[in-house]
Amino acid sequence: MSYNLLKGKRGIIFGALDENSIAWKTAERVHEEGGVFVLSNAPIAMRMGTIDQLAAKTGSHIIPADATSEEDLQNLVEKSMELLGGKIDFVLHSIGMSVNVRKGKAYTDQKYDWTQKGTDVSAMSFHKVMQTLYKNDAMNEWGSIVALTYMAAQRVFPDYNDMADNKAYLESVARSFGYFFGRDHKVRVNTISQSPTATTAGQGVKGFDGFISYADKMSPLGNASALDCANYTVSLFSDLTRKVTLQNLFHDGGFSNMGVSDAVMEAFEKGQ
Ligand code: NAI
Repeated sequence: MSYNLLKGKRGIIFGALDENSIAWKTAERVHEEGGVFVLSNAPIAMRMGTIDQLAAKTGSHIIPADATSEEDLQNLVEKSMELLGGKIDFVLHSIGMSVNVRKGKAYTDQKYDWTQKGTDVSAMSFHKVMQTLYKNDAMNEWGSIVALTYMAAQRVFPDYNDMADNKAYLESVARSFGYFFGRDHKVRVNTISQSPTATTAGQGVKGFDGFISYADKMSPLGNASALDCANYTVSLFSDLTRKVTLQNLFHDGGFSNMGVSDAVMEAFEKGQ
């Protein structure tokens, strides 16, 4: 269903790798709602993924950018404004990667240059994206910037490894930068704390299958899908949420406020 919520708005969407990506679903929904945008991803992801199909489907341009590179981000922001014909109204940061997770290094046995790389890609990149937009005065008033996060920033999920720390950093950057963006440009900045979702990044976490079904059983509404997340993001990009800022918004079917559910108790009792 389309409501034309983003008609006349221009944006940048980071992180669509393949059709499972949360950013992919978001791009499709933003397009349906009348928004126009540039798609961006790391140069290496261009070769691995299928982003060109998404660009064709949504009539968008692709501008590669390593989100850790200030030079790439400067080029992306300048070219996006040229291609889209004006300043930006919405930005989705949907980027995450931990080398320690990828290579199976435990949280208690980190290789710190990998840890630093993960922090740069997953968290500091959000600061870099916002600083580039801010310094170029690239955002329209009442624009909206969203990044995706996970509840391991607040609670312990052992296999989430150093990504938990990266997400805590990311959420803090949203608040800190959100203050300056709000004060100076009336731009809002929020993070969405999403349910476990079956994507390339999600499935990289050890024990993901158990994890996703546990969350589903624990949540009164069940897990939020990538499409649900896309819909929520559309609402945050729209003019219907203009005064929502500096928030970490849980989008998880209720999981974050649960202690235990009947379904989890039942599974636990059966296992005894
Ligand atoms: P995904 O694997 O489809 O997307 C991750 C994206 O990050 C990829 O497109 C990848 O190319 C991009 N990326 C990695 N390094 C980059 C770099 N240096 N520069 C630019 N882009 C880079 O997976 P998913 O799940 O759609 O991830 C999107 C966001 O959602 C991430 O921030 C993730 O942590 C977050 N999230 C995911 C959950 C899940 O269970 N899948 C749950 C909660 C949050």
